[in-house]
Amino acid sequence: MKRICVVGTGYVGLVTGACLADLGNSVICLDIVDEKIERLRAGELPIFEPGLDAIVRRTVAAKRLSFTTDYSEGVPGVDYIFIAVNTPTGPDGAGADMSHVEDAAKSIAENLTHDVIVINKSTMPVGSGNLVSQRIHEHLRDTSLKVSVVSNPEFLREGVAVHDFKNPDRIVLGSTDRDAADAVAKLYLPLRAPIMITNLYTAEMIKYASNAFLATKISFINEMARICDLLGADVTEVAEGMGYDKRIGRAFLNAGLGYGGSCFPKDIKALAFMADEVGLHPQLIEAVMKINHDQRRLAVERLEAALGGSDSLRGKNIAVLGLAFKDNTDDMREAPAIDIINWLIEAGANVHTYDPVAVETAQRIQPDWQVRYCDDELAAVTGCQGVIIVTEWKRFRELNLAELRAVMAEVEGGPVLIDGRNLFNAEEATIAGFRYFGIGRGVERARGVTRSRGEKRSDTKAARNLHKYNGDLREQQ
Ligand SMILES: NC(=O)c1ccc[n+]([C@@H]2O[C@H](COP(=O)([O-])OP(=O)(O)OC[C@H]3O[C@@H](n4cnc5c(N)ncnc54)[C@H](O)[C@@H]3O)[C@@H](O)[C@H]2O)c1
Repeated sequence: MKRICVVGTGYVGLVTGACLADLGNSVICLDIVDEKIERLRAGELPIFEPGLDAIVRRTVAAKRLSFTTDYSEGVPGVDYIFIAVNTPTGPDGAGADMSHVEDAAKSIAENLTHDVIVINKSTMPVGSGNLVSQRIHEHLRDTSLKVSVVSNPEFLREGVAVHDFKNPDRIVLGSTDRDAADAVAKLYLPLRAPIMITNLYTAEMIKYASNAFLATKISFINEMARICDLLGADVTEVAEGMGYDKRIGRAFLNAGLGYGGSCFPKDIKALAFMADEVGLHPQLIEAVMKINHDQRRLAVERLEAALGGSDSLRGKNIAVLGLAFKDNTDDMREAPAIDIINWLIEAGANVHTYDPVAVETAQRIQPDWQVRYCDDELAAVTGCQGVIIVTEWKRFRELNLAELRAVMAEVEGGPVLIDGRNLFNAEEATIAGFRYFGIGRGVERARGVTRSRGEKRSDTKAARNLHKYNGDLREQQ
């Protein structure tokens, strides 16, 4: 049984601490927020994460998991210290804010009485392993102590975090101290996952490159969705057809309102910043971010167009279904719902909303929002002219559209359903009486907005560019 302290008891820290305790270790989770630790000590989870409650309860009962706000209680006597504090976007709006990591490193150092391995689980810019080591050595009271730093990036997904911790695709460890990396690897042996040991920079970069690749897949399929809309193809089937190709894979090819959450937006920005800092302009990553931003806007633009164009949202009742950035979590960091609701409010709409678990989060992080929080989907859409599905909650998928339609306001042609996550298809929604708009379901073509084959090419910018491209090609040949 190893003795472990996990610094930072959020989505990653609490899952890591509880699951390591479940593997038989003795774990103390530390956080500077009193309220969080008090709730945990009282047997209450400060976050919503399926399956975590039971693990916390059983490991606390077995006396293998405890909680503290006090470094002098958490640090002495442990073999490993995980740093799992938040690393949000910095005040410059670009790089990562490392202040919480630096504070944690200082507090760890001031309370160390023995040799220890410090493990960077937070996502930190490439080179942070050195920074953490430096901060700790600056503040050590006993300079003869040996402190090794190992980077161990986390790849879990909120909503399925317990499953992901227990069934990782891989464990990545990076360090200048191979023995320390091997000692951390031992903690993970019961998970029977591939363990990859690299140098420090490489491990840190694997995390950023992985997130950037996944975000690229999302922006890629969202761009395909826009093209599908104009050409009359259905992106859900395009994604399925692509996904059978093992070189491509089906995951992360769901067109929608773009990525959000506590990781992708900030990590992609931080990677672009790191590249810029060393003199490389990250073209692809910038396009990924731009596409993602525009994709959120699409939901409001479509709704406005369907309800009569510019200024048509003023005074209308609009339901927003889903606040969390994805299903099965109460996390709203960088959630598309935040921008969408702000834009709706700016456009003069009365917003009604419902989310199965994230309402408390919304009320905390958006205290000034003038929105009506409702008890369920039916209450949210009652009297509304339009509804936007923002989060892919499973219960939304199971909604009876005719029942929803029946309580909505009368609008010429039917109320508008913007299905931001492609949970339904046009046929079932139209039968229920909605004017339906999914993402990338061929909608513009279907409504005759674009040319059909054989029609004269319009003099659009895209068409002009294509002519120019073909001309340039001919010149080169
Ligand atoms: N959430 C995810 O899905 C996920 C996945 C992979 C990696 N990560 C990375 O893991 C890290 C943590 O993410 P999170 O979502 O768990 O964040 P979080 O905000 O949920 O939790 C961070 C916790 O650290 C605490 N904290 C801050 N400063 C502290 C200090 N000096 N001492 C002790 N505690 C302190 C905060 O109070 C908070 O409870 C981030 O770097 C994130 O990028 C997150």
